[in-house]
Amino acid sequence: MPFTSKKLQEFSRILLKWNHEKNTRQMPWKGEKDPYKIWLSEIILQQTRVEQGLNYYNNFIRIFPDVHKLAKAPEEKVFKLWEGLGYYSRCRNLIASAKYISNDLKGKFPASYEHIKALKGVGPYTAAAISSFAYNLPHAVVDGNVFRVLARIFGIYTPIDSTEGKKKFTELADELLDKKQAGLYNQSIMDFGAVICKPAPACHQCPFPKKCYAFQHGKITELPVKEKKLIIKKRWFYYFLLEYKGEIAIRQRTGKDIWQQLYEFPMIETKKDHDLKTVLAKAEKNGIIGRKKYTILSVSEIYKQQLSHQLIAGQFITIKLSVKQYSVNDWLWLNKIKLKKYAFPKFINHYLSRKP
Ligand code: ADE
Repeated sequence: MPFTSKKLQEFSRILLKWNHEKNTRQMPWKGEKDPYKIWLSEIILQQTRVEQGLNYYNNFIRIFPDVHKLAKAPEEKVFKLWEGLGYYSRCRNLIASAKYISNDLKGKFPASYEHIKALKGVGPYTAAAISSFAYNLPHAVVDGNVFRVLARIFGIYTPIDSTEGKKKFTELADELLDKKQAGLYNQSIMDFGAVICKPAPACHQCPFPKKCYAFQHGKITELPVKEKKLIIKKRWFYYFLLEYKGEIAIRQRTGKDIWQQLYEFPMIETKKDHDLKTVLAKAEKNGIIGRKKYTILSVSEIYKQQLSHQLIAGQFITIKLSVKQYSVNDWLWLNKIKLKKYAFPKFINHYLSRKP
Protein backbone atom coordinates (compact mmCIF):
# COMPACT_ATOMS: atom_id res chain seq x y z
CA MET A 1 0.00 0.00 0.00
CA PRO A 2 1.48 3.35 -0.97
CA PHE A 3 0.39 5.10 2.21
CA THR A 4 2.77 5.81 5.06
CA SER A 5 2.03 4.17 8.36
CA LYS A 6 1.74 7.69 9.84
CA LYS A 7 -1.12 8.48 7.47
CA LEU A 8 -2.81 5.19 8.29
CA GLN A 9 -2.55 5.75 12.04
CA GLU A 10 -3.73 9.33 11.69
CA PHE A 11 -6.88 8.10 9.96
CA SER A 12 -7.81 5.75 12.79
CA ARG A 13 -6.97 8.29 15.45
CA ILE A 14 -9.11 11.03 13.86
CA LEU A 15 -11.96 8.62 13.17
CA LEU A 16 -12.08 7.42 16.79
CA LYS A 17 -11.81 11.00 18.06
CA TRP A 18 -14.77 11.97 15.86
CA ASN A 19 -16.68 8.99 17.22
CA HIS A 20 -15.92 9.92 20.80
CA GLU A 21 -16.69 13.61 20.51
CA LYS A 22 -19.19 14.04 17.71
CA ASN A 23 -20.96 10.81 16.92
CA THR A 24 -24.44 11.00 18.41
CA ARG A 25 -25.96 8.17 16.38
CA GLN A 26 -27.97 5.88 18.64
CA MET A 27 -29.08 2.37 17.79
CA PRO A 28 -30.36 -0.33 20.13
CA TRP A 29 -27.63 -2.82 19.20
CA LYS A 30 -24.79 -0.36 19.80
CA GLY A 31 -22.58 -1.57 22.63
CA GLU A 32 -24.55 -4.84 22.71
CA LYS A 33 -22.40 -7.81 23.71
CA ASP A 34 -24.83 -10.69 23.23
CA PRO A 35 -23.68 -12.31 19.95
CA TYR A 36 -27.23 -13.53 19.22
CA LYS A 37 -28.61 -10.00 19.27
CA ILE A 38 -25.66 -8.66 17.29
CA TRP A 39 -26.11 -11.40 14.69
CA LEU A 40 -29.82 -10.65 14.42
CA SER A 41 -29.17 -6.93 13.94
CA GLU A 42 -26.53 -7.57 11.28
CA ILE A 43 -28.70 -9.96 9.28
CA ILE A 44 -31.58 -7.47 9.39
CA LEU A 45 -29.25 -4.64 8.33
CA GLN A 46 -27.92 -6.48 5.27
CA GLN A 47 -29.38 -4.56 2.31
CA THR A 48 -31.64 -2.60 4.68
CA ARG A 49 -31.37 0.96 5.99
CA VAL A 50 -31.07 1.37 9.76
CA GLU A 51 -34.31 3.39 9.97
CA GLN A 52 -36.19 0.60 8.23
CA GLY A 53 -34.54 -2.19 10.25
CA LEU A 54 -35.07 -0.70 13.72
CA ASN A 55 -38.64 -1.84 14.27
CA TYR A 56 -37.94 -5.27 12.89
CA TYR A 57 -34.98 -5.67 15.25
CA ASN A 58 -37.03 -4.58 18.27
CA ASN A 59 -39.88 -6.93 17.35
CA PHE A 60 -37.59 -9.90 16.82
CA ILE A 61 -35.78 -9.33 20.13
CA ARG A 62 -39.08 -8.95 21.98
CA ILE A 63 -40.65 -12.08 20.50
CA PHE A 64 -37.47 -14.18 20.28
CA PRO A 65 -35.23 -12.97 23.14
CA ASP A 66 -32.82 -15.88 22.66
CA VAL A 67 -31.75 -18.25 19.92
CA HIS A 68 -33.79 -21.19 21.28
CA LYS A 69 -37.02 -19.21 21.01
CA LEU A 70 -36.24 -18.32 17.40
CA ALA A 71 -35.25 -21.88 16.55
CA LYS A 72 -38.47 -23.32 17.99
CA ALA A 73 -40.83 -20.83 16.38
CA PRO A 74 -43.08 -21.99 13.54
CA GLU A 75 -41.40 -20.83 10.32
CA GLU A 76 -44.57 -19.10 9.11
CA LYS A 77 -44.45 -16.88 12.20
CA VAL A 78 -40.84 -15.87 11.54
CA PHE A 79 -41.64 -15.09 7.90
CA LYS A 80 -44.63 -13.05 8.96
CA LEU A 81 -42.40 -10.94 11.23
CA TRP A 82 -39.91 -10.53 8.38
CA GLU A 83 -42.65 -9.45 5.98
CA GLY A 84 -41.76 -6.21 4.17
CA LEU A 85 -38.00 -6.41 4.75
CA GLY A 86 -37.32 -8.09 1.41
CA TYR A 87 -34.44 -10.39 0.42
CA TYR A 88 -36.18 -13.34 2.01
CA SER A 89 -33.20 -15.67 1.70
CA ARG A 90 -31.93 -13.77 4.75
CA CYS A 91 -34.94 -15.00 6.72
CA ARG A 92 -34.50 -18.59 5.54
CA ASN A 93 -30.81 -18.49 6.53
CA LEU A 94 -31.69 -16.90 9.86
CA ILE A 95 -34.03 -19.79 10.67
CA ALA A 96 -31.52 -22.43 9.52
CA SER A 97 -28.69 -20.88 11.56
CA ALA A 98 -30.88 -20.46 14.65
CA LYS A 99 -31.76 -24.17 14.50
CA TYR A 100 -28.11 -25.11 14.06
CA ILE A 101 -26.95 -22.96 17.01
CA SER A 102 -29.83 -24.04 19.24
CA ASN A 103 -29.66 -27.77 18.47
CA ASP A 104 -26.13 -28.63 17.35
CA LEU A 105 -24.25 -26.03 19.42
CA LYS A 106 -26.67 -26.24 22.38
CA GLY A 107 -27.27 -22.50 22.13
CA LYS A 108 -23.61 -21.49 22.34
CA PHE A 109 -22.95 -18.90 19.63
CA PRO A 110 -19.76 -19.56 17.61
CA ALA A 111 -16.90 -17.45 18.94
CA SER A 112 -14.31 -17.32 16.15
CA TYR A 113 -14.40 -15.39 12.87
CA GLU A 114 -14.23 -18.58 10.80
CA HIS A 115 -17.00 -20.33 12.72
CA ILE A 116 -19.20 -17.26 12.52
CA LYS A 117 -18.55 -16.94 8.77
CA ALA A 118 -19.55 -20.59 8.34
CA LEU A 119 -23.11 -19.78 9.47
CA LYS A 120 -25.64 -19.64 6.66
CA GLY A 121 -26.25 -16.10 5.47
CA VAL A 122 -23.05 -14.74 7.03
CA GLY A 123 -20.40 -13.39 4.66
CA PRO A 124 -17.07 -11.68 5.40
CA TYR A 125 -18.67 -8.33 6.26
CA THR A 126 -21.21 -9.73 8.71
CA ALA A 127 -18.64 -12.09 10.26
CA ALA A 128 -16.26 -9.15 10.81
CA ALA A 129 -19.05 -7.08 12.35
CA ILE A 130 -20.23 -9.85 14.71
CA SER A 131 -16.78 -11.05 15.74
CA SER A 132 -15.52 -7.53 16.42
CA PHE A 133 -18.65 -6.29 18.23
CA ALA A 134 -19.19 -9.41 20.35
CA TYR A 135 -15.60 -10.56 20.94
CA ASN A 136 -13.45 -7.59 19.86
CA LEU A 137 -11.69 -9.83 17.32
CA PRO A 138 -9.47 -7.91 14.88
CA HIS A 139 -11.47 -8.12 11.62
CA ALA A 140 -12.23 -4.99 9.60
CA VAL A 141 -15.66 -4.49 8.07
CA VAL A 142 -15.65 -3.71 4.35
CA ASP A 143 -18.94 -2.70 2.76
CA GLY A 144 -20.33 0.06 0.54
CA ASN A 145 -19.86 2.66 3.29
CA VAL A 146 -16.25 1.69 3.88
CA PHE A 147 -15.46 1.62 0.14
CA ARG A 148 -16.83 5.15 -0.16
CA VAL A 149 -14.93 6.54 2.85
CA LEU A 150 -11.62 4.98 1.85
CA ALA A 151 -11.91 5.77 -1.86
CA ARG A 152 -12.48 9.45 -1.09
CA ILE A 153 -10.02 9.98 1.73
CA PHE A 154 -7.19 7.98 0.18
CA GLY A 155 -8.01 8.88 -3.46
CA ILE A 156 -8.40 5.33 -4.77
CA TYR A 157 -9.78 5.06 -8.32
CA THR A 158 -9.73 1.25 -8.59
CA PRO A 159 -13.38 0.22 -9.21
CA ILE A 160 -14.95 -1.06 -6.00
CA ASP A 161 -16.81 -3.82 -7.86
CA SER A 162 -13.66 -5.27 -9.48
CA THR A 163 -11.65 -8.16 -8.05
CA GLU A 164 -8.61 -5.92 -7.83
CA GLY A 165 -10.62 -3.21 -6.07
CA LYS A 166 -12.07 -5.58 -3.51
CA LYS A 167 -8.58 -6.86 -2.69
CA LYS A 168 -7.07 -3.40 -2.48
CA PHE A 169 -9.80 -1.94 -0.25
CA THR A 170 -9.82 -5.00 2.00
CA GLU A 171 -6.04 -4.78 2.48
CA LEU A 172 -6.25 -1.09 3.30
CA ALA A 173 -9.17 -1.63 5.68
CA ASP A 174 -7.17 -4.32 7.51
CA GLU A 175 -4.19 -2.01 7.85
CA LEU A 176 -6.34 0.83 9.15
CA LEU A 177 -8.17 -1.24 11.75
CA ASP A 178 -7.33 -0.37 15.33
CA LYS A 179 -6.81 -3.96 16.44
CA LYS A 180 -7.07 -3.23 20.14
CA GLN A 181 -10.53 -1.74 19.76
CA ALA A 182 -11.79 -3.44 16.64
CA GLY A 183 -15.48 -3.28 17.60
CA LEU A 184 -15.38 0.41 18.39
CA TYR A 185 -13.39 1.15 15.24
CA ASN A 186 -15.77 -0.82 13.00
CA GLN A 187 -18.85 0.82 14.44
CA SER A 188 -17.17 4.22 14.05
CA ILE A 189 -16.37 3.79 10.36
CA MET A 190 -19.89 2.47 9.66
CA ASP A 191 -21.42 5.48 11.41
CA PHE A 192 -19.00 7.88 9.75
CA GLY A 193 -20.00 6.53 6.30
CA ALA A 194 -23.67 6.76 7.23
CA VAL A 195 -23.79 10.25 8.74
CA ILE A 196 -20.83 12.24 7.31
CA CYS A 197 -19.27 10.58 4.26
CA LYS A 198 -22.68 9.78 2.74
CA PRO A 199 -23.16 9.52 -1.03
CA ALA A 200 -23.97 13.25 -0.78
CA PRO A 201 -21.49 14.00 2.01
CA ALA A 202 -21.59 16.53 4.86
CA CYS A 203 -18.03 17.78 4.25
CA HIS A 204 -18.50 20.83 6.47
CA GLN A 205 -18.83 18.48 9.46
CA CYS A 206 -15.99 16.17 8.45
CA PRO A 207 -12.87 15.87 10.62
CA PHE A 208 -10.66 15.05 7.58
CA PRO A 209 -10.89 18.17 5.41
CA LYS A 210 -7.13 18.56 4.94
CA LYS A 211 -6.48 14.85 4.67
CA CYS A 212 -9.28 13.92 2.29
CA TYR A 213 -8.06 13.50 -1.31
CA ALA A 214 -11.54 13.90 -2.81
CA PHE A 215 -12.27 17.08 -0.85
CA GLN A 216 -8.90 18.61 -1.67
CA HIS A 217 -9.15 17.77 -5.39
CA GLY A 218 -12.87 18.35 -5.96
CA LYS A 219 -13.51 14.66 -6.75
CA ILE A 220 -16.26 13.90 -4.26
CA THR A 221 -18.85 13.00 -6.89
CA GLU A 222 -16.35 10.89 -8.86
CA LEU A 223 -15.30 8.64 -5.99
CA PRO A 224 -15.82 5.77 -5.46
CA VAL A 225 -15.61 4.41 -9.00
CA LYS A 226 -17.87 1.58 -10.17
CA GLU A 227 -17.06 -0.60 -13.15
CA LYS A 228 -20.42 -2.03 -14.07
CA LYS A 229 -23.58 -0.19 -14.88
CA LEU A 230 -26.64 -1.61 -13.17
CA ILE A 231 -29.09 -3.27 -15.56
CA ILE A 232 -32.70 -3.26 -14.38
CA LYS A 233 -34.90 -6.06 -15.62
CA LYS A 234 -38.61 -5.31 -16.05
CA ARG A 235 -41.19 -7.99 -15.15
CA TRP A 236 -44.98 -7.91 -15.32
CA PHE A 237 -46.99 -9.89 -12.77
CA TYR A 238 -50.72 -10.36 -13.28
CA TYR A 239 -52.34 -11.69 -10.13
CA PHE A 240 -55.71 -13.40 -10.03
CA LEU A 241 -57.80 -13.11 -6.91
CA LEU A 242 -60.06 -16.07 -7.50
CA GLU A 243 -63.13 -16.05 -5.30
CA TYR A 244 -65.23 -19.10 -4.73
CA LYS A 245 -67.80 -19.38 -1.93
CA GLY A 246 -66.11 -16.81 0.32
CA GLU A 247 -62.66 -18.26 -0.17
CA ILE A 248 -59.68 -17.11 -2.16
CA ALA A 249 -56.74 -19.09 -3.60
CA ILE A 250 -53.10 -18.46 -2.66
CA ARG A 251 -49.93 -20.39 -3.36
CA GLN A 252 -46.38 -20.38 -2.05
CA ARG A 253 -43.56 -19.14 -4.27
CA THR A 254 -40.92 -21.79 -4.72
CA GLY A 255 -37.93 -22.05 -7.05
CA LYS A 256 -34.90 -19.81 -7.33
CA ASP A 257 -36.43 -16.41 -7.73
CA ILE A 258 -37.44 -13.33 -5.76
CA TRP A 259 -39.85 -13.68 -2.82
CA GLN A 260 -39.08 -17.35 -2.33
CA GLN A 261 -41.32 -18.98 0.28
CA LEU A 262 -43.69 -16.00 0.44
CA TYR A 263 -47.30 -16.42 -0.62
CA GLU A 264 -49.08 -14.89 -3.59
CA PHE A 265 -52.19 -15.27 -5.69
CA PRO A 266 -52.16 -17.46 -8.79
CA MET A 267 -50.47 -15.40 -11.47
CA ILE A 268 -48.96 -15.19 -14.88
CA GLU A 269 -45.74 -13.39 -15.62
CA THR A 270 -44.91 -11.60 -18.85
CA LYS A 271 -42.00 -9.54 -20.14
CA LYS A 272 -44.17 -6.58 -21.13
CA ASP A 273 -47.61 -5.22 -20.35
CA HIS A 274 -50.68 -6.73 -22.02
CA ASP A 275 -54.34 -5.81 -22.29
CA LEU A 276 -56.91 -7.66 -20.17
CA LYS A 277 -58.07 -9.88 -23.03
CA THR A 278 -54.57 -11.24 -23.64
CA VAL A 279 -53.96 -11.74 -19.93
CA LEU A 280 -57.21 -13.68 -19.52
CA ALA A 281 -56.40 -15.83 -22.54
CA LYS A 282 -53.03 -16.67 -21.03
CA ALA A 283 -54.63 -17.49 -17.68
CA GLU A 284 -57.14 -19.80 -19.38
CA LYS A 285 -54.34 -21.54 -21.21
CA ASN A 286 -52.39 -22.00 -17.96
CA GLY A 287 -55.41 -23.50 -16.20
CA ILE A 288 -55.72 -20.65 -13.69
CA ILE A 289 -59.29 -20.03 -14.84
CA GLY A 290 -61.60 -22.31 -16.77
CA ARG A 291 -63.06 -21.13 -20.07
CA LYS A 292 -66.21 -19.02 -19.60
CA LYS A 293 -66.53 -20.23 -15.99
CA TYR A 294 -65.97 -16.90 -14.32
CA THR A 295 -67.02 -13.27 -13.96
CA ILE A 296 -64.58 -10.40 -13.70
CA LEU A 297 -65.32 -8.28 -10.61
CA SER A 298 -62.51 -5.73 -10.81
CA VAL A 299 -59.16 -4.89 -12.35
CA SER A 300 -56.78 -2.82 -10.23
CA GLU A 301 -54.59 0.08 -11.23
CA ILE A 302 -50.98 -0.75 -12.06
CA TYR A 303 -48.75 -1.33 -9.02
CA LYS A 304 -44.95 -1.09 -9.09
CA GLN A 305 -42.11 -2.17 -6.84
CA GLN A 306 -38.45 -1.42 -7.44
CA LEU A 307 -36.02 -4.12 -6.32
CA SER A 308 -32.25 -3.79 -6.57
CA HIS A 309 -32.00 -5.27 -10.08
CA GLN A 310 -35.63 -5.58 -11.14
CA LEU A 311 -38.70 -3.46 -11.58
CA ILE A 312 -41.90 -5.36 -10.88
CA ALA A 313 -45.10 -3.98 -12.35
CA GLY A 314 -48.50 -5.60 -12.42
CA GLN A 315 -52.19 -5.70 -11.76
CA PHE A 316 -54.69 -7.55 -9.60
CA ILE A 317 -57.67 -9.06 -11.33
CA THR A 318 -60.51 -10.13 -9.06
CA ILE A 319 -62.64 -12.91 -10.46
CA LYS A 320 -65.67 -14.80 -9.21
CA LEU A 321 -65.48 -18.44 -10.22
CA SER A 322 -68.59 -20.41 -10.97
CA VAL A 323 -66.64 -23.65 -10.79
CA LYS A 324 -63.79 -24.26 -8.33
CA GLN A 325 -60.43 -24.88 -10.00
CA TYR A 326 -59.23 -28.26 -8.73
CA SER A 327 -56.60 -28.74 -11.39
CA VAL A 328 -53.84 -27.02 -9.43
CA ASN A 329 -53.00 -28.84 -6.24
CA ASP A 330 -50.49 -26.41 -4.73
CA TRP A 331 -53.20 -23.83 -4.07
CA LEU A 332 -54.59 -23.11 -0.63
CA TRP A 333 -58.18 -21.91 -0.38
CA LEU A 334 -58.67 -19.51 2.54
CA ASN A 335 -61.17 -17.05 3.85
CA LYS A 336 -60.09 -13.40 4.21
CA ILE A 337 -59.32 -13.71 7.95
CA LYS A 338 -56.96 -16.65 7.50
CA LEU A 339 -55.22 -14.77 4.70
CA LYS A 340 -53.72 -12.40 7.29
CA LYS A 341 -51.58 -15.17 8.78
CA TYR A 342 -49.54 -15.62 5.63
CA ALA A 343 -46.56 -13.53 4.56
CA PHE A 344 -46.88 -11.77 1.21
CA PRO A 345 -44.45 -9.62 -0.79
CA LYS A 346 -44.70 -5.87 -0.27
CA PHE A 347 -46.13 -5.59 -3.77
CA ILE A 348 -49.20 -7.61 -2.76
CA ASN A 349 -49.52 -6.01 0.68
CA HIS A 350 -49.73 -2.60 -0.96
CA TYR A 351 -52.68 -3.82 -2.94
CA LEU A 352 -54.34 -5.53 0.02
CA SER A 353 -54.02 -2.44 2.21
CA ARG A 354 -55.41 -0.02 -0.39
CA LYS A 355 -58.25 2.26 0.57
CA PRO A 356 -61.55 0.99 -0.83
N1 ADE B 1 -25.13 -1.64 9.03
C1 ADE B 1 -24.74 -2.88 9.27
N2 ADE B 1 -24.37 -3.05 10.52
C2 ADE B 1 -24.53 -1.87 11.12
C3 ADE B 1 -24.32 -1.40 12.44
N3 ADE B 1 -23.87 -2.21 13.38
N4 ADE B 1 -24.60 -0.13 12.68
C4 ADE B 1 -25.04 0.67 11.72
N5 ADE B 1 -25.26 0.30 10.48
C5 ADE B 1 -25.01 -0.96 10.18
